[in-house]
Amino acid sequence: MMDTKYSKKPTRRINFLYILLSLFGVFIFIAYVAVPVAFKLSPTIRRHLLFMNYVNFQVNMNLSNPENEYKLKCTKVFHVDSSDGASLGVWHILPGSLVNKYCPTGFGKDLKDVDESRLFDDDRPIVLYSHGNGGTRGGNHRLGLYRLLAYGELDAHVITFDYRGFGDSTNMHPSVPGLVDDAFHMYKWLSSKVNHTRINIWGHSLGTAVSVALSKRIGSDDKPNTLTLEAPFNAVADAIREYPLAAIYKIYPLFDFFFIQPFDLPEYRLFDSQTNIKDVKFPILIMHAKDDAIVPFKLGHKLYESALQGYSGKSDQAKPVMIIYEEEHGYGHKNIYKDSLLTKIIIKFFSHQEIGQTTF
Ligand SMILES: *[C@@H]1O[C@H](CO)[C@@H](O)[C@H](O)[C@H]1NC(C)=O
Ligand SMILES: *[C@@H]1O[C@H](CO)[C@@H](O)[C@H](O)[C@H]1NC(C)=O
Repeated sequence: MMDTKYSKKPTRRINFLYILLSLFGVFIFIAYVAVPVAFKLSPTIRRHLLFMNYVNFQVNMNLSNPENEYKLKCTKVFHVDSSDGASLGVWHILPGSLVNKYCPTGFGKDLKDVDESRLFDDDRPIVLYSHGNGGTRGGNHRLGLYRLLAYGELDAHVITFDYRGFGDSTNMHPSVPGLVDDAFHMYKWLSSKVNHTRINIWGHSLGTAVSVALSKRIGSDDKPNTLTLEAPFNAVADAIREYPLAAIYKIYPLFDFFFIQPFDLPEYRLFDSQTNIKDVKFPILIMHAKDDAIVPFKLGHKLYESALQGYSGKSDQAKPVMIIYEEEHGYGHKNIYKDSLLTKIIIKFFSHQEIGQTTF
C-alpha cells in the first residue's frame, strides 16, 4: 500500500523526462543525421537551398502588368532567349525623364512596337540587374532600388530579368551554369542594342556571384562601364558555413563533409567570386551593411580584399571601392537602397569620379 502511494509521483516525472529526452533525441537525429545525410545525397535538396525560386509571396501578381501591379511607370515587358531553350522574362524600366516622351498614357503598352535600339537612343546610363535567390524581379526591395535608379537623380534605364525557373521565365530547374548563361545572354542582347560602355552590371546577394561570373566571361572588347555588388559573398562554401541557420552546426565535426564538400564541383566553382573577381578589369563597387543577417558583412569584405588583389595599380584600372554601412541604419541584407546618399555615390561611380567617404 505504501509502495503504490509513493511510487506515483516519481513515475510521472520519469514519463515526462522520457518524453522530453525522446523529443530531444528526435531533434538531434533530424538535425545531425537526417538533414546532413539528405543534404549530402540529394542534389535536389541542395538546389532548393541555393535557388529559392519556389518562395514567392506575390503569387497573385502579374509580371506582365508592371504599372498596375508593381507601381512602375513606362516599363516594357518582353522575353530574351538564353541557352537550353530558356526564355527569360524581362522589364525595361525607362528613365523618369523619358516617361512623358515614350508613354503619353503612362503605360508600357505605348512601347509595344517601339524598337529597343530607339528606346536607348539617349545618353542615360543603363543598369543590368541580377536579383538574389528568392522570389521574382518584382520583389519589394528590388522595386525600391529600380525606382531609385530610374526615377531619382541618376535617371537610368533599368533592365531586370528573371533567371530560368523564376518568375515568368521558362519553368525549368535553375542551376549555377544556367544562371550565368542567363545573365550572359541578357548582356549579349543588351550590347547588341547599345554601346557596351554604357552598361553597368549590378548584382544583389546570389546575383552578385552571377554578376561576377558574367563580368569574368565578358571579353575585353565588350567591357561594360562598371560592376556593382550589393551584399555579396566571396564563395559558396563560406556563405553556407556562415549562414545563420548553420550556427547549430558550429561544433559538428562532420559539417564540411556533409554540407561543404557536396558543393566542391566544377559547376559551383563558377560562383567562386573571390577568384573570379581578380579577372574583372573594370571599376568595381562593393556595398555591405554590418547588420546583414543573411550574408555576413565579413564575406563581402573578403571579396573586397580579393578585388584589391586583382587590382594592378595601373592607371587604366580603377581601384575597387567598398561602401560600408554601420548597423545603426538597420539596412540589413535588402535595404541599402534606402540610403539617401546612395544616388550621389552611384552617379560618381558610374562617371568614374572619386567617391570620397566610404563608411556611413
Ligand atoms: C497578366 O497580364 C497580361 C497583360 O495585361 C494578361 O494578358 C494576362 O492574361 C495576365 N495573366 C494572368 C494570369 O492574369
Ligand atoms: C562606344 O563608346 C565609346 C566611348 O564613348 C567609344 O569610344 C566607342 O567608339 C563606341 N563604340 C561604338 C561601336 O560606337
